[in-house]
Amino acid sequence: MYQQAIEPEYPKPLTRQENEDLTRVGPGTVMGEYLRRFWHPVVRAAKLEPNRAPVRIRLLGELFVTYRTKSNKIGFLRERCPHRGASLALAHNSGEGLRCLFHGWKIGVGGKVEQVPTEPPACAAKFAEGVKVRHYPVREAGGLIWAFIGEGIEPPEFPDYEFNSLPDDQVDIRVGLFHCNWVQGMEAVLDSAHLGQLHRSSFKETFFTGGKEAREAQVQRLIEAPAPSFEFDVTPFGFKEAAIRDLSDGRRQGNLRMFAAPYYSFLPGSSRQSDDRTICISVPFDDEWAAQYFMTYNTKQPIDQQASKERWRYTDPDPDNFAAGLGDVRNLWGQNRDAMQAGHATGFIGRHSFHEDFIIQESMGPITDRTEDNLGSSDTIIDLTRRTLLKAAYALRDGSTEIWGQKSAGDFDYAGIRGNSRVIPADTDWRDIDPFEDVEPVFLATS
Ligand code: FES
Ligand SMILES: [Fe+2]
Repeated sequence: MYQQAIEPEYPKPLTRQENEDLTRVGPGTVMGEYLRRFWHPVVRAAKLEPNRAPVRIRLLGELFVTYRTKSNKIGFLRERCPHRGASLALAHNSGEGLRCLFHGWKIGVGGKVEQVPTEPPACAAKFAEGVKVRHYPVREAGGLIWAFIGEGIEPPEFPDYEFNSLPDDQVDIRVGLFHCNWVQGMEAVLDSAHLGQLHRSSFKETFFTGGKEAREAQVQRLIEAPAPSFEFDVTPFGFKEAAIRDLSDGRRQGNLRMFAAPYYSFLPGSSRQSDDRTICISVPFDDEWAAQYFMTYNTKQPIDQQASKERWRYTDPDPDNFAAGLGDVRNLWGQNRDAMQAGHATGFIGRHSFHEDFIIQESMGPITDRTEDNLGSSDTIIDLTRRTLLKAAYALRDGSTEIWGQKSAGDFDYAGIRGNSRVIPADTDWRDIDPFEDVEPVFLATS
């Protein structure tokens, strides 16, 4: 008898239009309008010093500046001076506002023009009153400055994820900038199929800590781990993904990742046998540049600074760009072929696994052509992310008032979202696991 071939259903590539709609973030684009319904982290809070230089921000293809006044108030407004467009990143930060270098207009931290020294005193106040400043809601939480740039829209409830209520010493933030579209960055974080391939050497040499033997054992465990089966639940906040591996004693290892729309990945486990947890936030600067905020947080104790140093030892020490000096396609990111000949997986010597991810994403070009993908069963999570984001953005365009990732889509608790790694008894459904239950964290890869 012929054996019937079992063909899993493979995900389909996106159409050209879908790829455009998924990736473009400027005003008036489908995804850009969806993203403008959310609060976005824009810079590490520590970078904004009182009474010091404003910080220039590029977000969703628009330019802004943010600054902190002497009395610790924060302003967030368009970079362009409302008079004739000089950059307010150059402005004086004094007297609870910004004073433009060009003609000295002063914009108060509340977003009003307060002084126009170039107008005759008799009519200056009235003139100033008539000038509209594009000034936006801004917040400080979780060691980050957050802004809402939707025009003419009420900001949604602020997302009080558990890290947003922690003191500064319980969060550790490193930002990496990469030269390609934000969705590419996010897809790499969600893609567990590449771990044992791309990072085979970097995990051993630069990612895991401990002695050589311990590091090699960890990598071996990762390479030999049985292929997980994936299960997903789309929820009002995003989706839950469980990577389940059968263990030899009949129990199962469940790695639970939470994805919160539009771009938060709460990673499953801790590699450090501590209560440190990590999330990755992929924020678009524009269509071709983005930042990833890697945030380690601990709800019980301050972050161990020595451990943090160790964790990031193979990256640029600049916390606002740990990928500085990575190179680009012109030098193939410094790839060392001799090292590859000698067995190194990528030839990116002394680079962190996050660097390898950035290099691969950038190597696809600024916006990868997803119509040419050949997706396999291991790409299911990638396909789900693309299509659910598109569905949410199309729904908003077509007049829906439910926004995926916000309370309008259904009841949930932002502070209850957490990734986790657990050994699950054979008769337990992963959906019943309480991620807040206090058990010893289990390490098995990052997905
Ligand atoms: S351009 Fe800023 S005051 Fe004239
Ligand atoms: Fe990776």
